[in-house]
Amino acid sequence: MRSKWIAAVVSLAAVGMLGLGLSQASSVSSTPVPVALDGDGPLHEIMEGVNKQNNTLRKGVRTAVAYKKSYEEVLAASEEMVKLAKKAQEVKEYAEKLNKVKEWNDLSQKFTESAEQLLTIVKDKQKTQKEANDQWKAMGKTCTDCHNVFRIDEEDPFGR
Ligand code: HEC
Repeated sequence: MRSKWIAAVVSLAAVGMLGLGLSQASSVSSTPVPVALDGDGPLHEIMEGVNKQNNTLRKGVRTAVAYKKSYEEVLAASEEMVKLAKKAQEVKEYAEKLNKVKEWNDLSQKFTESAEQLLTIVKDKQKTQKEANDQWKAMGKTCTDCHNVFRIDEEDPFGR
């Protein structure tokens, strides 16, 4: 998929300009082209953060004991997830390149809303671990829905 590679290289330049991917930008200068093949698109940095928070959430909402024990971490991760989801909403390059801006807006909005809902549940001490866990799962569905449309395999984000 040569056109995709080119898109990725172009996106990288855009990321550098947005100041989002400084670490990648610096690695680009030392390793000219192949970096783009590792899935360093404009969302890479945001998605790495999303993935990190998601792992914290997965562990934290798993059982009532875990929820109680790591409540502060779960709360922080939920807050961070909302911020990251909002950031993802603003990254349109990927969708523009695939001519799927409408889908992007829709899917990233659903992601943001479900993250906000999770935060609301976590903040509410009346809510149970089960409710948090159910909402975390519902949010996970918004990840999959978007990855399906943009054909992202989490092992190989560009689906190659
Ligand atoms: C609105 C669309 C959208 C949503 C929602 C979304 N992702 Fe992604 N995700 C992408 C795109 C696009 C990429 C490819 C990014 C790249 O590398 O350029 C990606 C890549 C990834 C990757 C690959 C690693 C990387 O750094 O590129 C992981 C892991 C990931 N997403 C996890 C998640 C998780 C977990 C959620 C939900 C909590 C989520 N994503 C929600 C669009 C989305």
